[in-house]
Amino acid sequence: MKRTIKKIIFISLLSSIIFCESKIDKKINTLLKQMTVEEKIGQMTQIDRRFLRSDEDLIKFGIGSILSGGGSVPEDNTVEGWADMYNHFQKTALKSRLKIPIIYGVDAVHGHNNVPNATIFPHNIGLGCTFDEKIVYKVSEATAKEVVATGIDWNFAPCLAIPQDPRWGRYYEGFSEDTELVSKLGIAAIKGYQNKIGGKKSVAACAKHFLGDGATIWGTGDNNYKIDRGNAIISDEDLRNKYLIPYQDAVDNGVLTIMASFNSYNGLKCHASGYLFNDLLKEELAFEGFVISDWRGIDEIPGDYKSDIVTSINSGIDMIMVPGDTIWGGEPYHKFLKLFKESVKEGLIKEERLDDAVYRILKVKHQMGLFDKPFASKKYVKDFGSKKHRKIAREAVRKSMVLLKNDNNILPLSKNLDKIHVAGIGANDIGMQCGGWTIEWQGKMGDITSGTTILDGIKSTVSKNTEVTFSETGTNASNADIGIVVIGEKPYAEGMGDDGELKLSKEDTAVLNNMKSANIPLVVIMLSGRPLMITEELKDWDAFISAWLPGTEGAGVSDVIFGDYSPTGKLSFSWPRDISQIPANYKDKNYDPLFEFSYGLKY
Ligand code: GLC
Repeated sequence: MKRTIKKIIFISLLSSIIFCESKIDKKINTLLKQMTVEEKIGQMTQIDRRFLRSDEDLIKFGIGSILSGGGSVPEDNTVEGWADMYNHFQKTALKSRLKIPIIYGVDAVHGHNNVPNATIFPHNIGLGCTFDEKIVYKVSEATAKEVVATGIDWNFAPCLAIPQDPRWGRYYEGFSEDTELVSKLGIAAIKGYQNKIGGKKSVAACAKHFLGDGATIWGTGDNNYKIDRGNAIISDEDLRNKYLIPYQDAVDNGVLTIMASFNSYNGLKCHASGYLFNDLLKEELAFEGFVISDWRGIDEIPGDYKSDIVTSINSGIDMIMVPGDTIWGGEPYHKFLKLFKESVKEGLIKEERLDDAVYRILKVKHQMGLFDKPFASKKYVKDFGSKKHRKIAREAVRKSMVLLKNDNNILPLSKNLDKIHVAGIGANDIGMQCGGWTIEWQGKMGDITSGTTILDGIKSTVSKNTEVTFSETGTNASNADIGIVVIGEKPYAEGMGDDGELKLSKEDTAVLNNMKSANIPLVVIMLSGRPLMITEELKDWDAFISAWLPGTEGAGVSDVIFGDYSPTGKLSFSWPRDISQIPANYKDKNYDPLFEFSYGLKY
């Protein structure tokens, strides 16, 4: 009896899904038939809010999407300010002839990082070192709620790069150099972001950047960068057994959008590769969502702008991120729309291609519920930057930290020491512990948003009899029982972070020397987006912890240092002994790193 009831339920569920699908398909096909070529082109166009010249343009051209690139924020950069901005654009878009809602994208790559007082979580390199899909799901779910609180419905995340070279400025956007770990955590992130697709705490995810962004060769960088956006020479075997797998898993787990990558694949710009998007992604992987280009990504295809448009659209890219800016170069969207329309008129782009792209875009908009509920919901405003989310972030910080040296088990420290001297600018700088993609595209040093610094955490953890002193330069440490030194990298993003040496900064070397001259035990904490070359310096450190880019909840660092949490983090990237080893394959038996992939000490 039970089995038959289960069968009936399954069949009725299945038929309702099929019915619902065909109902949406019917709606999309009806709308598609009414659309002019201009309106189809409009749907395939995404503009940065800063460069939209007028509301009328949104209506006249039926623009399909707006984005906030890194640091592109409304005048009133608060939750309410964002929701008002979103609702204004949506109300305007619904004045277009066919009343098609926009979909609005942001890079909430480690929390809703454009917005002050949002919870900022560890960047992916830190989440990778947790090896824990549960915490990645929780972080992504919390991020989705904070994004939804501001009205936004699309997140350009997760990055599924498998970075091979730590000299790359985007190394920290990857979870790991290991394909399996990237897949596992990428799926968790997509599920956390998309949740029940179209539900109240759901944003469309965007697996990026397709394909091979982390495999580029030093010296081949584009856009005046050294390695970022360079050429990735990938064998067919590596393509299928290494770089494609996280995307197959992302597609199989329902990711709604995928972003094309700036780099070249075997000498051809990804944005120009019909093999990648038409053959591999849409045909072989059966991807049914839509592909978005990267920021002015088509402009970097060799040749004139009109041929860039024709090539990228015919390669299977469905929506073009036409930032429309002239500040950093790039073609304004009026020119894009004009040339796109010319290309269709001249038969260089077939209308069937437009129909395929617009169908995919409208399908995602329907799945996200944008036709039924196009406006911002206030449901999660109370969760924005909440204690509950910061607790999740602090848990993620604890789990992301990797203990790499602990001579004489100096850690965990007692909470009742007489005196602790803390040193290094990073010990008391929220901006440095957050890293790039925070408030501004490149991130910024200083008190840029609310949270707790590592120093705050230390002070609030030790007993009231313990004196905690601090100096950025490491002076005045002599009569302390222990020195805690925070070193690392100042914020950067993308190719601006390409670095051929990965050495400690002069300031950090000076701080370490000052602290060494105090002849006290040293606990060194590193804030960085990648392994730095510290083989020589490590000898003088009694303990060493990598905290990566932990985000706003720096207090999570003290949880580990003082033993409230025993470190569980493991390296999701091997740590080179010397720059001459890079790039290295962590599976290569002859590769002898300073610390191996998955290395991590416990108490
Ligand atoms: C950037 C990045 C991409 C981001 C996009 C929008 O250049 O490459 O990761 O999603 O532009 O900000």
